[in-house]
Amino acid sequence: MSPWLLERAQWSLVLLPSVILLLALPVCRTPLRFMWNCFVKPFLRSYGDQKEQLEGFYQGQADVYDSTRSHLLKGRETMLQLLASHLKAQPTPLSGARPKIWVDIGGGTGFNIEKMQVDEYLPITWFDAVYLVDLCEPLLEVARKRFAAKGWKNVHVLCQDASKFTIPEWESGALDPRGTDVEIPSFYSLLDRCDQVLDPKRGLMGVVDFYTSRDLGSKERAIGTMSKRMSWFAKWFWESWFELDHVHLHASRRDYLEYKMGTIKLYNGRNNFLNSWFIQIPYYIFIGCSRGRDASAAAEAFEKLAGNRLGRDSSGLLTPTSPFTMSPFATPLSEKNHFIPDLSLGPSAAEMEQTIFDVGAPFSPFHYQLRKAWRVPYLEEKIHEQFRTHIYGWTWEDPDIDVKRLGIKKDDHVLAITSAGDNVLHYALAANCERIHAVDMNPCQGHILELKLAAIQTLEYSDFWQTFGEGRHPDFDRLLDSKLAPFLSSHAYAYWKTHAGQFKRNFYFRGYSGWALRLAQVAFFLAGVSKDVKQLCRASSTAEQKRIWDSRLRPVLFNRVMMKMFLGNPIFNWHALGVPRNQMNCFLQDGTVEDFCKATLDPVPGLTTLKDDNYFFFLCLNGRYTRASCPAYLKPEGFSTLKADKVNNSFKLHTDTILNVLRGLEDGSLTKIIVMDSMDWFDPIPPETPMPTGRAPDESDESPEEAYEHLRSELDYEIVEMRRVLKSGGMAVWRSAAKRPWYCQRFEAAGFKVEPIDIRENGKAIDRVNMYASFWRAIKS
Ligand SMILES: C[S@@+](CC[C@H](N)C(=O)[O-])C[C@H]1O[C@@H](n2cnc3c(N)ncnc32)[C@H](O)[C@@H]1O
Repeated sequence: MSPWLLERAQWSLVLLPSVILLLALPVCRTPLRFMWNCFVKPFLRSYGDQKEQLEGFYQGQADVYDSTRSHLLKGRETMLQLLASHLKAQPTPLSGARPKIWVDIGGGTGFNIEKMQVDEYLPITWFDAVYLVDLCEPLLEVARKRFAAKGWKNVHVLCQDASKFTIPEWESGALDPRGTDVEIPSFYSLLDRCDQVLDPKRGLMGVVDFYTSRDLGSKERAIGTMSKRMSWFAKWFWESWFELDHVHLHASRRDYLEYKMGTIKLYNGRNNFLNSWFIQIPYYIFIGCSRGRDASAAAEAFEKLAGNRLGRDSSGLLTPTSPFTMSPFATPLSEKNHFIPDLSLGPSAAEMEQTIFDVGAPFSPFHYQLRKAWRVPYLEEKIHEQFRTHIYGWTWEDPDIDVKRLGIKKDDHVLAITSAGDNVLHYALAANCERIHAVDMNPCQGHILELKLAAIQTLEYSDFWQTFGEGRHPDFDRLLDSKLAPFLSSHAYAYWKTHAGQFKRNFYFRGYSGWALRLAQVAFFLAGVSKDVKQLCRASSTAEQKRIWDSRLRPVLFNRVMMKMFLGNPIFNWHALGVPRNQMNCFLQDGTVEDFCKATLDPVPGLTTLKDDNYFFFLCLNGRYTRASCPAYLKPEGFSTLKADKVNNSFKLHTDTILNVLRGLEDGSLTKIIVMDSMDWFDPIPPETPMPTGRAPDESDESPEEAYEHLRSELDYEIVEMRRVLKSGGMAVWRSAAKRPWYCQRFEAAGFKVEPIDIRENGKAIDRVNMYASFWRAIKS
């Protein structure tokens, strides 16, 4: 024998027993059976109809099905928890004559039904009946044994084809909420079946499924799933992979679901199988309802109460691909005829409603939201991709001064920048304003305020405090799915599901503003003053604060390196502090960066103590609030006041520019507009430039020349719109980094009476934050 062959033979003698030994190890048997049945067996035999195929596929692995699928079928628990929390949160109590029935379609071994009870999402006894429908006998056998062991009398197993399933209750015509998790062929007929039998008023449908997707249209922009798009390779790879097991993952599968049903929640996930980074199977979780649900209350809340006239008029926000120029619910039935003259309508009004409804596109998830219409519908825009997270984790202006100096009161209709929502929550608390429009272009800022509002509605105070007082909650994920989700828009839910990690250690150290806190901590550590910072946070008098500031911290912060590297650096200012170039120019007109920083910080230690009152600086130095030093909404009294519908229903959250939101509002509909320091961000306009006449144009109607002109004069248009939308006597208010900002002349040119509320002079602070050099108002006479 040649030495080469001899060497191979020796290797075989070692390898072969090792492989046999490996196969014999109990720990390897389950995954090997899974791999054999999924990846080898399908090639060895071909089966007849679908039932035969399923039974052939699952026959040899039914008893190991649950243990092998826990990693593969991610999202099931989330879907069940969402179904449970949404069922519990439905506004109409689910009681009365109609039975509550859950049909688990393609329920297999009954794992999900057991999970619902065992993990206490919803007790099985909550349902009058639970049906598991599946076509595969070996799996159903496991389910029967499981339910018998539990002794559940209301859970039944039906061996049926899902696309034609029937349940005994249908004889009486009653059917109610159900969940489905779907991964089965004849998808279209299955969905038609579900839609046909789902209670339009209260029925809910849950789906968790793998998917592929490339093309995106206005439907995706409206329901907030632009993130579902994947690369050409990923699409091809996963479709081919699932094809091996006769699962056809075509994109139209999910499309049809999103078209056929009303979307309540949608989340795109990646199943990193066995925690590997290279196997990332795309899956989604869907909670939906019949499109026959009455969304008129939501439409009214958005169109009338939120003044979302643009959405209605341009047909952009309500039904993006709809042939209607407005919501079908917004017009009397007789007028609807006019839109689709050539449809052969049935004789009854009810039938006609159905036909009209079917030809339109689905509404946005905002319209099907179960509780609270806080967030005004918006379409996902290209610009939103720039905002992957929040810039402001807390609001850096003193709302107490706003309430006092502007006289904010009960009958006010306020428009203010959302930021982290702290100030608008304060206005609601302190003045119980009639209406508060919170506006931010960055959707993530709106998601923060939505989360705070939902948390106030649904959490116990201790959980609320941990989340936003301490900035961390060890169980945030569970709270999100089980309590907060029904009160969140689909967009906000999907964002927080992806960003739940922000509450793992400390929310206030996340986002762009979190970077500023981290850098400050590093700087204090390197300068050896971390201890002094702690002392400053504990100081019980302003005299002690001043002493620590003057002797220990001031010399460190105001040294040349700090000034050059950080505070005087435009890149740091924008990314960590959110100060753009134009704003830097505003304060540079009055002095150097150093002058500005000194005027800002020097007066603060002498104002009030950080530990009892100045929660703005306390948070920055301490990283979290305390019960004594925190915004009013975080205190127990604030928390319970904001729970009242009358207070929190005043909020309307817009995801757009101030100009666009103003354009949608009625003439004279606001009394106060508080735009923080946003005016500092615009390019200066020379005083001799005439103010634009007429309404701001609709951006989509503009020619390139008009678009350029519009961009150049956006601030002017904003001011013109402010004047139109304000009641006479109403005011627009801003803070500025400049003592006398250049744009006062634009307000005057538009006919406003402009006056300073305060200007920071002679080492005096204008409020507890004291970040800005001046505070102004422009009054509409
Ligand atoms: C991926 S498994 C999911 C099982 C279960 N829902 C779970 O979470 O473990 C898909 C299930 O759909 C069932 N199924 C496939 N086609 C079906 C059909 N036409 N009618 C009923 N059940 C079907 C299969 O038998 C299988 O149990």
